[in-house]
Amino acid sequence: MSISAMRNMPSEVIEAVSLKSSPTLVTFESVFKTYDEQNWVVNDLDLTIHQGEFLSLLGPSGSGKTTTLMMLAGFDAPDRGRIMMDGEDISRLPAYRRDMGVVFQSYALFPHMTVAQNVEFPLKLRKVPASEMRAQAREALALAKLEGFEDRMPSQLSGGQQQRVALARALVYRPRLLLMDEPLGALDKALREHMQLELKAIHKQLGITFIYVTHDQDEAMTMSDRVAVFHHGKIAQIDRPEIIYNRPSSCFVANFLGETNLFAGSILDRVDGTARVRLDDDGSVHSAQCGGGESLPGSRVALAIRPENLSFARPSESAISAQVCDAVFHGPHCKLHMRTTAGTAVCMTFNPSAIGRAVPVPGESVRLAMPAPHALVLPPP
Ligand SMILES: Nc1ncnc2c1ncn2[C@@H]1O[C@H](COP(=O)(O)OP(=O)(O)OP(=O)(O)O)[C@@H](O)[C@H]1O
Ligand SMILES: [Mg+2]
Repeated sequence: MSISAMRNMPSEVIEAVSLKSSPTLVTFESVFKTYDEQNWVVNDLDLTIHQGEFLSLLGPSGSGKTTTLMMLAGFDAPDRGRIMMDGEDISRLPAYRRDMGVVFQSYALFPHMTVAQNVEFPLKLRKVPASEMRAQAREALALAKLEGFEDRMPSQLSGGQQQRVALARALVYRPRLLLMDEPLGALDKALREHMQLELKAIHKQLGITFIYVTHDQDEAMTMSDRVAVFHHGKIAQIDRPEIIYNRPSSCFVANFLGETNLFAGSILDRVDGTARVRLDDDGSVHSAQCGGGESLPGSRVALAIRPENLSFARPSESAISAQVCDAVFHGPHCKLHMRTTAGTAVCMTFNPSAIGRAVPVPGESVRLAMPAPHALVLPPP
């Protein structure tokens, strides 16, 4: 699902899809990892992986995604905590006994072997008889759309084709988990988008569990059943993409996935799940959704709202005032860059033909409403 498809998704739909889950395959239990005995690069990580899901590990550079994947693959071991699979502690089980296929960003093909030999290699290691080996390799090559390339050497292939070989080689023995670390990072945008859809189709076809590391939010959103957002070696939030997009649990997550306007303010009062927040900027008051957290009157909070959810306020409506800095046309929508009188940057996107007024020009003052269903109260950053 793309970010645009997630915008304004009703909350009933979000909740219905979040209820589906399948049996647990792997759990990380309070896992810690350090390389220098000083900093935890994985810091008390708890993670449950469901059987058959497509889970993406998303986060900024250095947030511990690869380290987590390496511990899952068995190329590295936790310093504390444990990793369980089917009720068995696999923290120290050697990689070759874990039944997991791995694909890295650098294809790591054997340069002196043909495509077919590369794909057959894991079966050879497992001493699969020759006729069976060829049949299985043929199947994996077909799955990765590599028919006709069997006799080429890796150096005679494009980046995308090489990555397909790496994929076929990782899938040829039908592992229970396929682990991928930025496998499409070296490909151009069009090829990457094409491969994303193919990976998704392969996942559906095989039904095995995919764990996919990326720092590209669109990629994670497009392919995954669930996304785990990493921050400083922990999971900041893990859920279905549409929930993470529409109901981020922190300013970090809101900012990392898509764009968000954040305003500092204080809770005035609260009724059930809706609070009224007075903004520091100009004292304007806005209603917003509280989520699960405690927010007592007087609490310092951030009010978050996506650019596509801001609207031009009617005269009677509570609004924040801002001045337009720039108006940029992006084909179907227009993007306004603004600043409040107190200097907070605000961004709004809208369909210019649907606003019932002229598009504001730089220097113009505007009043912006924040529709309560789309405004969120978050802990201050
Ligand atoms: N072998 C190593 N020795 C020392 N430090 C390491 C090693 N591997 C990773 N680190 C450090 O651990 C932290 C987490 O690294 P990791 O590779 O897990 O991040 P990442 O989330 O995969 O980032 P990226 O998106 O850049 O790939 C980083 O600060 C990194 O410098
Ligand atoms: Mg990495």
